[in-house]
Amino acid sequence: MSKDTVFSGVQPTGDIHLGNYLGAIKQFLNFQDDADSIFCIVDQHAITVFQDPEELKQNVYSVLSIFLACGLDPKKCILFNQSAVREHSVLSWYLSCTARVGWLNRMTQFKDKAGKNRDNASLGLYAYPVLMAADILLYHADKVPVGDDQKQHLELTRDIAHKFNTDYKKTFFKLPEPIINKAAPRIMSLRDANNKMSKSDISKYSRILLTDSNDEISAKINKAKSDSLAMPTSSDQLANRPEINNLITIYSSISNVEKDKIITLFANKEISSFKNELKEVVINLIEPISKEIKKIMNDKKYLQETLKHGSLKARERANKTILELNSAMGFNFD
Ligand code: TYM
Repeated sequence: MSKDTVFSGVQPTGDIHLGNYLGAIKQFLNFQDDADSIFCIVDQHAITVFQDPEELKQNVYSVLSIFLACGLDPKKCILFNQSAVREHSVLSWYLSCTARVGWLNRMTQFKDKAGKNRDNASLGLYAYPVLMAADILLYHADKVPVGDDQKQHLELTRDIAHKFNTDYKKTFFKLPEPIINKAAPRIMSLRDANNKMSKSDISKYSRILLTDSNDEISAKINKAKSDSLAMPTSSDQLANRPEINNLITIYSSISNVEKDKIITLFANKEISSFKNELKEVVINLIEPISKEIKKIMNDKKYLQETLKHGSLKARERANKTILELNSAMGFNFD
């Protein structure tokens, strides 16, 4: 049986946080051994909002360092940056002509990101999910490990793939399946459990970074919003206690201990004693990663070579898809 192809992407904007790790990167690690895995630093998605060029470049190196420090191995998977493979933009245009405006109008992430000032948002921000569909379909991905927030974009990708296949009367594209970590579909902000943990939140206390020191992690967990009750005694109580639910979710998904077991372990205890244990769990995860990030970040040559090697492999595959489409769409003249 042939291996599944797995594709996913991470934007090089801001700092990578625990939500990105638990929702996405942790899943990437599970795939690299058994699947044909491709992980992309999506620098062209980043410019949908203006980026300082030098900062963008550093952020690409920084995300790559994080990938490597977390354990992604360039011998087992393809690691590259999107702008190095121009076929992403080519396919994005082809698919823009398949996607319907009505479909894009439904994208909630655009509405959230553009806010009230929609007329002033870039056209790229609006068309962003089509570029994301191109990223995935270019490599004929079967599975796409992502956080819950990307589910709607995956549904759109499937709609675009289906319409393209129908229009051109051939199954060019598979319909990719989102793979969402059940233990951590959406990690919420530590300051407001109604919002997801996000790179763009103005409060740095809302998110734990993979580069945080032990002291920073402790301070953020101490400050994490909670209520004044004791720890819950059953999972039914979590629905009305979103902050505690989020902290237990973080504990559970890092330690791989079921939430029910954690509830039993801490039932009726003070929240501060749970937070102390949580700090230990989070620090045990992040301390070795943050040390490794610092080491790898200083080795520019290794980072450059890794990107070059990954881009070459990605380009070869992407080019094959585009040549096939060109001949089906009437763009071949030899
Ligand atoms: P981005 O860069 O915002 O996030 C990277 C990955 O992290 C997940 N994630 C979370 N998971 C759980 N809890 C959270 N609080 C949380 N915040 C972020 C995201 O779901 C994502 O999986 N559009 C994508 C990047 C992209 C992509 C693709 C992904 C571009 N092309 C093709 C998959 C396939 C994005 O902005 O992710």
